[in-house]
Amino acid sequence: MRILGIESSCDETAAAIVENGRVILSNVIASQALEHQKYGGVVPELASRRHCENILSVVQQALRDADMTLQDVDAIAVTFAPGLIGALLVGVSFAKGLALATGKPLIPVHHTEGHAAANYLLHPQLEPPYLALIVSGGHTRIAEVTDYTEFRTIGRTRDDAAGECFDKCARAMSFPYPGGLHIDLAAKEGNPQAFSLPKPKIEDSPYDFSFSGLKTAVVNMLHHADQCHEIIDRSDLAASLQENIASVLTEKTIAAAKEFGYTTIALSGGVSANSGVREKLSAACAAEGYTLYMPTIALCGDNAAMIASQGYYNYLAGITADESLNAMASKELHGESVNLTGRNT
Ligand code: KG4
Ligand code: ZN
Repeated sequence: MRILGIESSCDETAAAIVENGRVILSNVIASQALEHQKYGGVVPELASRRHCENILSVVQQALRDADMTLQDVDAIAVTFAPGLIGALLVGVSFAKGLALATGKPLIPVHHTEGHAAANYLLHPQLEPPYLALIVSGGHTRIAEVTDYTEFRTIGRTRDDAAGECFDKCARAMSFPYPGGLHIDLAAKEGNPQAFSLPKPKIEDSPYDFSFSGLKTAVVNMLHHADQCHEIIDRSDLAASLQENIASVLTEKTIAAAKEFGYTTIALSGGVSANSGVREKLSAACAAEGYTLYMPTIALCGDNAAMIASQGYYNYLAGITADESLNAMASKELHGESVNLTGRNT
């Protein structure tokens, strides 16, 4: 079964064709990052406008790259939640139009579930059940993946996502947007022990995260240094920040795996591109004898191949939509009933 995936939840307009949830036939991404860089972050209205301009040509390119026409596609999968509402609406409306015009099934996909599915595209042996650590600009979550479409969250951020913390600290350190990559590069030259940064503990929920205190500590340190005309070594601060985030993510994931009895862990999301996170989690999994799966760097960030992959499993589970499908800025994972608020879904 060949599924056309469409992704427009943030600042990447993406389309891809994936066969049977596992094999990428094409994967096209039009990134707006350079444009948003001027403003130091994503400007939602600008993102919607660019999606609107780019989506047709991105989908056409994905079909061309796979040497297919729309008639060869079996179903259309689209990210419907969570994300920037105006951005999501472009992909959802476009996918609905395509489904209506072609009579093909329409499959709604949760963006966070899509990130987890990125690993199916690279690791044929990966099958549920496993423990997922999904970390990006808007999401930080440890979840049990009990089946392809069944998720149970064990821990999530109470405030900022890890990627948001990387980006906001990077901005305060005058790195360009999106800052995560620049922190990663600078960290290679720095001393991870140079600065002692806070690691918050959440008493009643050991697997939840909180990154806003860390962000505030870094921003305050930079302001203080500025006022006192002191110079802070950006590489040392980047390395210390990265060390802090990587160890918090690793410690909580390994503890959750032990408590809930998982020996297979899958890392995904934009922050899974971070070299410090990859190294620390790999070393910890090796020490415990756990199997760790990670996407290649190209499939860590937002793409539509992961949406088409998760779309395939949604379709098999009977998760399809009709013309009433709407975009949602926030939405719980499939199989979960908790009503969450805030942006970190
Ligand atoms: O998954 P993604 O592309 O979009 C969301 O769903 O949010 O993730 C983007 C996030 C940004 O915060 C970006 O700074 C971060 O992933 N990121 C990184 C790295 N590459 C991307 N963070 C740390 N180190 C990296 N190498
Ligand atoms: Zn994402």
